[in-house]
Amino acid sequence: MTLLEHLKQYTQTTLPMHMPGGKRRFASELPYKWDVTEVEGTDDLHDPHGILSEMQSRAASLWGAEQSFVLVNGSTGGILSAVRATGDGAVLMGRNCHKSVYNAVSLCRREAFYLLPVEGEILPAHVEKALTDNKSITTLVITSPTYEGVVSDVKSISEICRARGVTLIVDEAHGAHLGFAFGESAVTLGADIVIQSLHKTLPALTQTAILHCKKAFAPAIARENAVFESSSPSYILMASADECFAFLASEAGKKAMEDYKNNLLAVREKLKTNLKHFRLLETPRYDIGKLVILTRGTDRTGKDLADALRRDYKIETEMALPHSLTAMTSVCDTEKELNAFADAILTLDKQASLTASCSLPPPSLPKKVCEPFALRGKEGAPCPMENAIGKVSLSYLWAYPPGIPLLVPGERVDDTAVEIAAAYQRAGIPLHFIGTKGEASCLEIL
Ligand SMILES: Cc1ncc(COP(=O)(O)O)c(C=O)c1O
Repeated sequence: MTLLEHLKQYTQTTLPMHMPGGKRRFASELPYKWDVTEVEGTDDLHDPHGILSEMQSRAASLWGAEQSFVLVNGSTGGILSAVRATGDGAVLMGRNCHKSVYNAVSLCRREAFYLLPVEGEILPAHVEKALTDNKSITTLVITSPTYEGVVSDVKSISEICRARGVTLIVDEAHGAHLGFAFGESAVTLGADIVIQSLHKTLPALTQTAILHCKKAFAPAIARENAVFESSSPSYILMASADECFAFLASEAGKKAMEDYKNNLLAVREKLKTNLKHFRLLETPRYDIGKLVILTRGTDRTGKDLADALRRDYKIETEMALPHSLTAMTSVCDTEKELNAFADAILTLDKQASLTASCSLPPPSLPKKVCEPFALRGKEGAPCPMENAIGKVSLSYLWAYPPGIPLLVPGERVDDTAVEIAAAYQRAGIPLHFIGTKGEASCLEIL
């Protein structure tokens, strides 16, 4: 079967509670016949002076940014550009950052300091302390909202950064919709550089993204985009981004976003009132667009729910973990789709029962021996986790949740890391060993 044949089958039967935000419903006449290249009149994304420059200006005014760059390589490309555009000093980063941030910091051979999030949130007091303790830090990178929709206090964090001359990059890959009937974007909360995936939460084709920045960073960002982005950016993707901007700016788009918000609030209320066993994730600051169902303390895993939704309701969700299920919604979901998801969850909730839940040790930061980039090209040996105590890891060891690496290359494996890994495994939380030579359950050690 070809991929296209598979897609035809899949899309006929399934309700997508996952990205992309267009949900296969957004009315658009893209693609093949509009697939062009840089010719007279179509401008050049890497040196825009015409129609693409106008498109980017429209985007900047929509988000209230000083300058905006349309990206066709996802937030991944924008994050690489942002980290490389902000110099050589040390980087303070949320330990829960996306792998593109780890890769960017390593590629740029920058020293890394980490902040442990508290239930997904990076706390201003922790930022303040880290910047006081480590004067070599020139850049802070945080993720807000997280994959689960947890938002940090970007305003306070940006004030702390500004007072110390530290550049604040916010990975807002999951928050392109913020500012449009939903909360406030980091762009207007004082961040210097903000990267958003249009395709995750808005109607726009996969890989479309946008980087907003203060004017002072624009020349460096343009230079780095030329390094990290294709020299043939897709006009289909750029047109899709522009269609999304036009939608957000239109009266119909504004009304659709308001309706979407109200529908979400109603569905959240329905879930909160009627759930007897599962819970809906809500934190002091969160994005209501993510419907995260917590199953801890019940006899169901997130994967049980995802499987049941797929099998019995033809609903496909975004992320299933041992104790949670994440559904991604967008303005392209109407009352009908949101209620279909909520009603299915409420039925599954009735079938679940409560069980004793085990508590997990909090994540910790192992001792760093060297930066990940210093290990490039080093040959290692596979080693089971429990035999690796005292050795330096060449692998990332990731646990989802909480999406925080237990080990980063260059860190020494200690008793605590082994204990936490064992506790996660006992709780059914999968561990991902990244960077090992095909050994699914082994660290690679120096
Ligand atoms: C927090 C976060 N940042 C960045 C990215 C990368 O975004 P993109 O897929 O648009 O490259 C992702 C992707 O899932 C993400 O979850």
